[in-house]
Parts: sequence; structure tokens; C-alpha cells
Amino acid sequence: MLKFRKLSAHDLELLRRWRMSPSVTKYLLTDPTITEEEQKTWFKNVKDGNRYRCWIANYDGADIGFVTLSKIDWDNYNADPGMYICEEKYIGVGLAKPMMHSLLRYAFEIMDMRKVFGPILVSNASAVAAYIKAGFKIEGYFRDHVYKNDIFHDVVMVAITSYDWHIMRKIPAVEFEEY
Ligand SMILES: CC(C)(COP(=O)(O)OP(=O)(O)OC[C@H]1O[C@@H](n2cnc3c(N)ncnc32)[C@H](O)[C@@H]1OP(=O)(O)O)[C@@H](O)C(=O)NCCC(=O)NCCS
Repeated sequence: MLKFRKLSAHDLELLRRWRMSPSVTKYLLTDPTITEEEQKTWFKNVKDGNRYRCWIANYDGADIGFVTLSKIDWDNYNADPGMYICEEKYIGVGLAKPMMHSLLRYAFEIMDMRKVFGPILVSNASAVAAYIKAGFKIEGYFRDHVYKNDIFHDVVMVAITSYDWHIMRKIPAVEFEEY
């Protein structure tokens, strides 16, 4: 079972290790080097949850990664989603959709957001696929948008609105028998 624990001071080292691990950062827009001190200062600035929220994802008792809502914009009711499965054995086993749906349920049904959207490197095929399968749509394609590891990368902007979410939630999953 998936559970989400609000980020606390106890999780900062785990988060720092994950956020800097090459297997996680290789497809992300940024790969920062974060010191222990910087992590603590950052947490002090974000822990009120006004602009940034983060939860550690726990699956059947194991901490497997984290989800975030960042750039929370209370004027326009939108936020940028993040989903990171950081323990290798939990990648590719179908957890992305339930993780993202839990985050979206929180954003749309608890925070009353209007839109959740953010950029993904086109080369991050698993992430693009996972977001699309979770109900996001591609709203923009930005060529040569990010310079990383000596090359320019294309980026897609993926988005889902509260309207899309509520439509998706109302349609029950129906199984069709295979021909
Ligand atoms: C993005 C991430 C969460 C996806 O997790 P995952 O475990 O690979 O996803 P899942 O196995 O649940 O797959 C989700 C769906 O995408 C499909 N998929 C995954 N990788 C794919 C690929 N390379 N090409 C096509 N489809 C793919 C899966 O088949 C699955 O479809 P299904 O629901 O029909 O079975 C994970 O790769 C990750 O944490 N990456 C590092 C951090 C990151 O890049 N985060 C996103 C930042 S924007």
C-alpha cells in the first residue's frame, strides 16, 4: 500500500541523497549539489507549505521516493508536480500512476488547484509516458530549451486541469473482454 508522509526534518538527509543521485538527476532539468547546511536552510524556507509541498512515498513499509508540488501559485491556483521513484527496484513496476493520482487528488480535491503543469525533458521517455498515462496532456513543445551535459534538450510542457481530473475520476474503469 502507498502512503505519503509530509517531509520533516528527519527526512532531509534521505531527500538530499536522492535528489543528488545520478540515477534520479540524469533526466531532470537540474542536477544540483546540495550541502547539508543548504538543505536545512531550504527546508526552513519551504516548510510552511505555502509555495512548496513534499511527501516521502512509502510503499509497503519502504521509502521509495517522493512527490512534490512546487511553484504553488495561489493567485492562479496552479502548481508544478514532481514524482521521483528513487529506489531502483520500484521503478517500472506500475507505481507511477497510483503515485501521481494520489498527488493529483490532493492538488485538485484538497488544495482546490485549477491546473497542475510542468516541464519534462523529452529524453525522459519513462516520465513523459508515466505523466501521459496518468492523464496529463502535452501543452507545449520547446526545442533546445535546456542546456545540460553539453547538449541542448527539448522539453515538453505537460498539464492537467481540474476539469480533466474530475472527468477522469467520474468514469469508472471498465474492463473490455479481449477479442
Ligand atoms: C518517472 C517515473 C516516476 C516513472 O516511473 P515508472 O516506475 O517507470 O513508471 P511505471 O512503471 O508505473 O509506468 C507508467 C506507465 O508508463 C509506461 N512507460 C514507462 N516507461 C516507458 C517508456 N520508456 N516508454 C514507453 N512507456 C513507458 C509504462 O508501461 C506504464 O504504462 P501502463 O500504465 O500502461 O503499464 C520514474 O521513472 C522516475 O522516478 N524517474 C526519475 C525521476 C523523474 O524523472 N521524475 C519525473 C521528473 S519530471
